[in-house]
Amino acid sequence: MSLDLDKRQRAILREMGIRVWQPMAPATAVEVAPDLVAASEQPARAAGQFDAERPVTPAVMAPAAARPMPATVVLQKTPVPEPVPGLQPHPDGIELMSWPALQNAVAECRACALCQSRKNTVFGVGPALAGQAAPQVDWLIVGEAPGENEDIAGEPFVGQAGQLLDNMLQAMQLQRGSADVPPKTGLSQRVFITNVLKCRPPANRNPEPAEVAQCAPYLKRQVELLQPKIILALGKFAAQSLLQDSVPDLQKIPLGKLRGQVYRYLGVPVVVSYHPAYLLRSLGDKAKAWDDLCLAMGQI
Ligand code: URA
Repeated sequence: MSLDLDKRQRAILREMGIRVWQPMAPATAVEVAPDLVAASEQPARAAGQFDAERPVTPAVMAPAAARPMPATVVLQKTPVPEPVPGLQPHPDGIELMSWPALQNAVAECRACALCQSRKNTVFGVGPALAGQAAPQVDWLIVGEAPGENEDIAGEPFVGQAGQLLDNMLQAMQLQRGSADVPPKTGLSQRVFITNVLKCRPPANRNPEPAEVAQCAPYLKRQVELLQPKIILALGKFAAQSLLQDSVPDLQKIPLGKLRGQVYRYLGVPVVVSYHPAYLLRSLGDKAKAWDDLCLAMGQI
């Protein structure tokens, strides 16, 4: 990719973190993509340590007819993670799996390093299965990832944040599905609760993008099989996982700005709200969360 860039444009690109290769000898050099230059022939430098305007003279450059040399924008590659021993790729055909097969695939999953520290996978919780079919629900609640309690219990949202979520559900006349607890009068159990990640990140750290990507096919298949009428995305990671293909520049948008609209994921309406763990610390935003729940209730 060649661009004629003036000094100001190069400065803007530098600010954006885009490195520009500026050739040293316009009269004799030919343009060579740095990727094509053997590593041993590249000037000694650590990855990512290009100086924006420092000249580069790879050894494979051959003299050519004199012509002005355009600047070259060097696109940086995403680092490829080292393979971790003991990991295996997903099973094939997640997109065709039945509900029980999907549950089993999650239980056996060793696609990322979280499998090495988890006690249990956390597939989700909802009303009892009807044979091989997915449970029949109206609502899908998507949180972030299991924490310590959830890892032990194998069930999402069983800690303090889970108690608040149960109260939120009750305010919407919903109740978490459970084989042991019958629905209270007037409450519906047509709700399934799950997370973006099915395994606990150690020390409750944030999910990493590669982990979210590994788990995404499971969440996608859950949505396809559950066919909920509405998805409630709780917190930044749920919103980012579900809306990444439909909202441009999503990473730059704060959660508060994603609220108040109805999005779509696989054709299902999605409403974004605060994560219950955040609401436990920020009581003042509970009223806004209630607005979000009302918006969601209005979709079904
Ligand atoms: N936070 C989440 O996002 N999910 C859980 O299951 C528990 C806490």
